[in-house]
Formats: sequence, C-alpha cells, structure tokens
Amino acid sequence: MSHASGRGPRVTKAVVPAAGLGTRFLPATKATPKEMLPVVDKPAIQYVIEEAVTAGLSDVLVVTGRNKRSLEDHFDRNLELEEVLRHKGDIARLDEVRASGELADIHYVRQGAPRGLGHAVLCAEAHVGDQPFAVLLGDDMIDPRDPLLSRMIDVQRRHGGSVVALLEVDPSQIHLYGSVAATPCGDDVLITGLVEKPRPADAPSNLAIIGRYLLDPGVFEVLRKTEPGRGGEIQLTDALQAMAADPSLGGPVHGVVFRGRRYDTGDRADYLRATVRLACGRADLGPDFRAWLREFVSHEMV
Ligand code: G1P
Repeated sequence: MSHASGRGPRVTKAVVPAAGLGTRFLPATKATPKEMLPVVDKPAIQYVIEEAVTAGLSDVLVVTGRNKRSLEDHFDRNLELEEVLRHKGDIARLDEVRASGELADIHYVRQGAPRGLGHAVLCAEAHVGDQPFAVLLGDDMIDPRDPLLSRMIDVQRRHGGSVVALLEVDPSQIHLYGSVAATPCGDDVLITGLVEKPRPADAPSNLAIIGRYLLDPGVFEVLRKTEPGRGGEIQLTDALQAMAADPSLGGPVHGVVFRGRRYDTGDRADYLRATVRLACGRADLGPDFRAWLREFVSHEMV
C-alpha cells in the first residue's frame, strides 16, 4: 500500500546505508568503515544519526557490510570505559561516552553484496514495513546548524509520496550526483524526472540529489523490479524516476532545495573542510583554533 495522496503516517524510522568500501579514503578505510572516521572528535556517522534523532527519528536501521563491529561497538554502552572515567571523576567524557550508547534505538542489517544504494534500501524492507521512512547517506554531512530533514518531513506531510534533498551545483560537478528535472511548487519543487550521474550534456538541470530522502514504502516494490543501472548497480534514483513518472507507484516525488552547509565527508578535501568548519564553531576548541588558523593562513600559506 502506498500513501500517494494527502497525509500519510508519521515518519519515525531512518535508514542509514553504511556498507560502502570507502575506496576514496584508502588506506584509512582498509580495516575501518569510512563512516567511523572522526570529524573533530565524533565519527561521521554519529552526526548523521544525531541529525535523524533531532528530526524526531529515533528508530535507526544501519545497513552494514564488512567491518561492522566498530560501528556496533560505538553505539553500544562500554561499561568498562564508563567505570574508568567515573573513577577518575571525568564526568564530561563519561557523559559523551554514554550519550553515543543511548543516542537512538539502533538496529543493524547486513547487505550481503554491495549491489548499489537501491539494493541497500531494499535490505531495510523487513524493518521498515509499510510506512514512509527516511534514508540518510553517511557521506553527506549536513551542518547541524542548518536543519534540512525537518523541512523535508513537512513537505512529505503536505504532499505524501517521497521527498529528496537537492543542492544547486556547478554544472561541471553534476556527473557526480543524481540530477533532477523539476518545476516550482510553492517553496519546494515537484520532480518530473531523475537521472543517475548524467554526463553534463544529458543532465536535466544542475539540481543534484544530496543524501537525504523520505521515501514512500511503495519504493520497495519498485526497487524489486529495478534493473541494474549506472555502474551495474541497483540505483535508488532509477526507482524514484519510475515513481515520478507513475505516481500510482507511491508518488509524487518532491524536492527541497538546500542552501545550507553540506560536506561530502567521503571526499578528502571536503572532509578537511568539514573538520575545520565544525572545529571553528565549537565553544571548547573554536577560539584557540580560529586564532591559530588566522595566523597559519596569513603567515604560513604560500
Ligand atoms: C548516491 C546517489 C546519488 C546522489 C549521491 C549523493 O551516489 O546514487 O544519486 O546524488 O548519493 O551523495 P553515491 O555518492 O553513493 O555514488
């Protein structure tokens, strides 16, 4: 059953695909999932799960691949470490350590073979059931100061169907993303077509899909029928294209254009930018770090 028209049930579940190989970050990701690389002092995936929880989605399913152990350990309690910190009277760190173990109601499912984002989403079907759900990609980090998901939830409540997050990118970059054809619809857009990683000449626009989706459960049925596409993988973009073309499959598909700060933490340069920007904004590290950065830029940069 889909909820194509009007208000559907409330979105409560988030799916976080985390089974990628992280090849852009080798050798760091040889034995560590890329989602566990720290941004300042928290693993990238913790920001993503905190984002979901902030938007009211505290039931989180992580789709893992190999090396899932450190992920599971991170979001579990560590009683031995807690005891050591308590004994030392280090209450601030104790609170931090406990917080990541109590952040959300986190579940795991394993994606046997890396057959694409669409396949990862399909692995979530048994957990998600028949209600709309969110998908948050770990590589895309939305600055916690610029909320996006709550806006998308509002749009989903208003229109039903599915909602994707969009970012205007330079046309030379569109081949790295899913690209959409869209028409204005109030503050948002109605999506009429989607293409996964097009050549610049074939891109319907310079609106790129960034890794936040709210999906109608009708997507599972569509994904089951979706043939491997770009890169030989089952593409979520292709399933959404089918839904945009035929709203009886669980459409319509709307888009929310994001104008805040977003980082691709799977890309080394953007990862460094994320680290610097977040460190600058931190109350504990920011003042000293900003002073050092100013000095560094004015005297040591050549
Ligand atoms: C995935 C999607 C793509 C989207 C991108 C956002 O691609 O397939 O449509 O634009 O995420 O980060 P990936 O980057 O996983 O190859």
